Amino acid sequence: MTSFKETLTENARIVTEELDRLLPLEDGAEARLMEAVRYATLSAGKRIRPFLVMNSAHLFNVSKESAVRVAAAVEMVHCYSLVHDDLPAMDDDELRRGQPTCHVRFGEAAAILAGDGLLTKAFGVLADEPTHSDPKVRGELVVEMSHAVGIEGMVGGQMLDLLAEESSLGVNEITRLQRLKTGMLIDFACASGAILGKASKPARHALHAYAHDLGLAFQIADDLLDVEGDEKEVGKKTGKDASAGKATFVSLLGRERARAQADMLADQAIEHLVLFEEKAEHLRELAKFVVSRRA
Ligand code: IPE
Ligand code: IPE
Ligand code: MG
Ligand code: MG
Ligand code: MG
Repeated sequence: MTSFKETLTENARIVTEELDRLLPLEDGAEARLMEAVRYATLSAGKRIRPFLVMNSAHLFNVSKESAVRVAAAVEMVHCYSLVHDDLPAMDDDELRRGQPTCHVRFGEAAAILAGDGLLTKAFGVLADEPTHSDPKVRGELVVEMSHAVGIEGMVGGQMLDLLAEESSLGVNEITRLQRLKTGMLIDFACASGAILGKASKPARHALHAYAHDLGLAFQIADDLLDVEGDEKEVGKKTGKDASAGKATFVSLLGRERARAQADMLADQAIEHLVLFEEKAEHLRELAKFVVSRRA
């Protein structure tokens, strides 16, 4: 029997191949930019969001060709967000996925442009014909992605996150911040399979509820890794949130209660999947993985 770790790795391999195809090396003036783009994207990420796309698509019998393009687009946006998140003006980090961050390796200007390039490319991939034969579906993907990662989504959340270094936030405010900065892209990843498969309203609601709880659990686990994780294993510098004075669930509740909250959210996420029966097994396993991971 294949273990969940192997399933996740195999999915990551497929998505990385697609990213490699969609982001080919260029000649001439763009060569340096593409090198930075590929460096930030083809590195060893867990590919959790692409896994969500592929497995939500699986629920509705969406073709693998469609799903893998959307999975790649979601990972491009995620990688862009990491490149910009690591910049000196933001978290000022030097280690990402076990290697020097993009700006350390290529300079700040190239890193900013690599992020811009990835974000723009992702929308192009969603809108392009091979993603789905129905242009309405492609339009819905574009609109929903824009909502998830723009000002009212991830980018807005990143702004709140920076402000959190200067103010003391309560549980409700942190929940909102994390929902925006991390939850909304995870939500889109789950919703995208339903969009591609023209799923029913109840199915969409169930996935949305799953994504909501999973996203929060995921970010609490990330905050716990910042406190408890091993730098080598995690592949990024730890202890950063506390030294930046960043309000997180861990700073607010303490480690034990934060972990209990993450576990509770993962269990709750799983409960939302009953509708999909055994077809959602991978999504259930992912929820367990997200709160038990060590990287
Ligand atoms: C890290 O995300 C950034 C957050 C939103 C907390 P991941 O933990 O999924 O990072 P990679 O993609 O595996 O490197
Ligand atoms: C990053 O959150 C969220 C986004 C990039 C949108 P963090 O700043 O906590 O992520 P890490 O810990 O650097 O991976
Ligand atoms: Mg950050
Ligand atoms: Mg960061
Ligand atoms: Mg973090």
